[in-house]
Amino acid sequence: MTTPVQVTVTGAAGQIGYQLLFRIASGQLLGPSTPVVLRLLEIEPAMKALDGVVMELDDCAFPLLAGVEATSDLRHAFDGANWALLVGSIPRKAGMERGDLLNVNGGIFKPQGRAIAEHAASDVRVLVVGNPCNTNCLIARSSAPEVPADRWFAMTRLDQNRAETQIAKRVGTGVAGVKNLAIWGNHSSTQFPDFANATVDGVAVPVAVGDDAWLRGDFITTVQKRGAAIIEARGASSAASAANAAIDTVVSLTTPTAPEDCVSVSVTSRGEYGVPEGLTFGLPVQVDLAGAWHVKEGFAIDEFAAQKIQLTTDELLAERDEVKKLGLV
Ligand code: NAD
Ligand code: LMR
Repeated sequence: MTTPVQVTVTGAAGQIGYQLLFRIASGQLLGPSTPVVLRLLEIEPAMKALDGVVMELDDCAFPLLAGVEATSDLRHAFDGANWALLVGSIPRKAGMERGDLLNVNGGIFKPQGRAIAEHAASDVRVLVVGNPCNTNCLIARSSAPEVPADRWFAMTRLDQNRAETQIAKRVGTGVAGVKNLAIWGNHSSTQFPDFANATVDGVAVPVAVGDDAWLRGDFITTVQKRGAAIIEARGASSAASAANAAIDTVVSLTTPTAPEDCVSVSVTSRGEYGVPEGLTFGLPVQVDLAGAWHVKEGFAIDEFAAQKIQLTTDELLAERDEVKKLGLV
C-alpha cells in the first residue's frame, strides 16, 4: 500500500471540521488512490465532541482512511504532517477590537507555527482558514522560519468561488466557463474581486456582462460581504462552502493550472505587482507541471483596480503593524 499522507486539521470538532473531514477521508482532497491519516487537533473542552466525529469517521468505513489521531497535543497533532489545515480559531465577539482578536489568535497560531516547524514532515504545506486568516498565517509563518515561505497559504478561494458564481448567474451561463478570477488582498470586506482580468466562456467579463456599474458596485460588495450575509441568514458562519473551498485550494495547488486560468490564494508576497514583501496576500497563482506555484504575470491593473488593491494592502499592513506591536511577528 502507498504510504499514507498525513493531514492535520485543527478545530476538527467545529462546523468546518465537520464538513471537511469526511471529504478528505473519502479521497476528495488528495485523490482516489492516496490513503490518508487524519490528525485532528482540538482544545480539551471539545475532545468529547471530537470523539463523536471520530466514531462517525469509523462508521463511514472509508477505504482510504488509514488512521485517525485525535488529540489536544500540538506535537502529536503535527507529527509528520504533510498538509496542515489550520481551521480552529477564536471568532470575534461583541465589543472585541481587532487588536484583541489578533492577540487571542496569536496565542493559537504562534505555538502552532512552532509545532509545525518542529514536528511536521519536511515537505509540509500549510493552509490557514481560521480568521483573520491572512494575518494568522503571517503569525504562524513568522514563528516557523525553518519552513520555506512558499509553503504557507491563507484561504481566499471561497471568495473566488463566490465571485465566479455571481458572474455566471449574471451572464446566465455555467460557472465552469468563468476563468482567471483573482481575489486580491485580504480575506475581509476590503478584498478586491478582479472582474476585469477574468473571462467568461472566453470573453472578457466586462464585455460579457456589459454593465460596468454593476461590476464596480454590487458585484464587488456582494462578494466582499458574502461572509457577513451568510452569518446574518444562518446565525453561523459559512461552513460547507468554506470546507469546499479548502478542498478546492489544495486540489488546485496540487494540479497544473490551465494557461487561461488562475487560482486565488493568499501567498507570501515577494513584491509581485508592488505588493509589500512578506505580507500574506491574495494573488493570482498558477501551478506548473512540476507542481511548483508562481504568481501569474500579466494582469492589467487600471486606476480603479489599483485603488482597490491599495485599500486592502493598507488593511493588511495595519494588521501586520498591530501584531508587530503585540510581539507576535
Ligand atoms: P467553529 O467555532 O465551529 O469551530 C472552531 C473550532 O476550533 C472549535 O471546535 C474550537 O474548539 C476549535 N479551536 C479553538 N481554539 C483551538 C485551538 N487552539 N486549537 C485547536 N482547535 C481550536 O468555527 P468554524 O465555523 O469551523 O470556523 C473556523 C474558522 O474558520 C473561523 O475563524 C471562521 O471565521 C473561519 N472561516 C474562514 C473562512 C475563509 O474563507 N477563510 C470561511 C469561513 C470561516
Ligand atoms: C466567510 O467568508 O464566510 C467567513 O470568513 C466569515 C466569517 O467571518 O467567519
